Amino acid sequence: MRILVLQGPNLDLLGTREPDIYGTATLDDIHASIRRRAAELDLDVDFLQSNHEGVLIDRLHRMDFEAAIVNAAGLTHTSVSLRDALVGVERPFVEVHLSDPSTREPFRQVNFLADVAAASFVGMGPRGYLLALEELARLRDEGAAE
Ligand code: DQA
Repeated sequence: MRILVLQGPNLDLLGTREPDIYGTATLDDIHASIRRRAAELDLDVDFLQSNHEGVLIDRLHRMDFEAAIVNAAGLTHTSVSLRDALVGVERPFVEVHLSDPSTREPFRQVNFLADVAAASFVGMGPRGYLLALEELARLRDEGAAE
């Protein structure tokens, strides 16, 4: 099973960006731990971080993956287009946020993705990505049993 890990705007700054909120792990650290856990779960992973909405949408349109893990960052709270792309490609995705946006500023309470996500892991830091992988492996194994 091929998993696309999609990382939205400003996540390239992890490690130095607001460490009190997002922690000190860099995106490379997070991707390395995703890669390790994915190997254990027999999942293939591909990564894209972009600061550009259209680049993220174009990557989804390639449809060369069976499921996705998405931290859309600020686009979570603004992007109908990214939501439409995620629905349009008809692949399950798990939403991840390092912080818990629902406990932060009011504008972060708007979420265009949560109701179309297969699951959401928020406020758990980088561990949320590993839980997302485990959820997708569970869905794969459930599907295989059908
Ligand atoms: C975030 C939460 C978003 O509200 C914010 O815009 C981000 C990061 C998180 O992982 O906690 O950029 O998605």
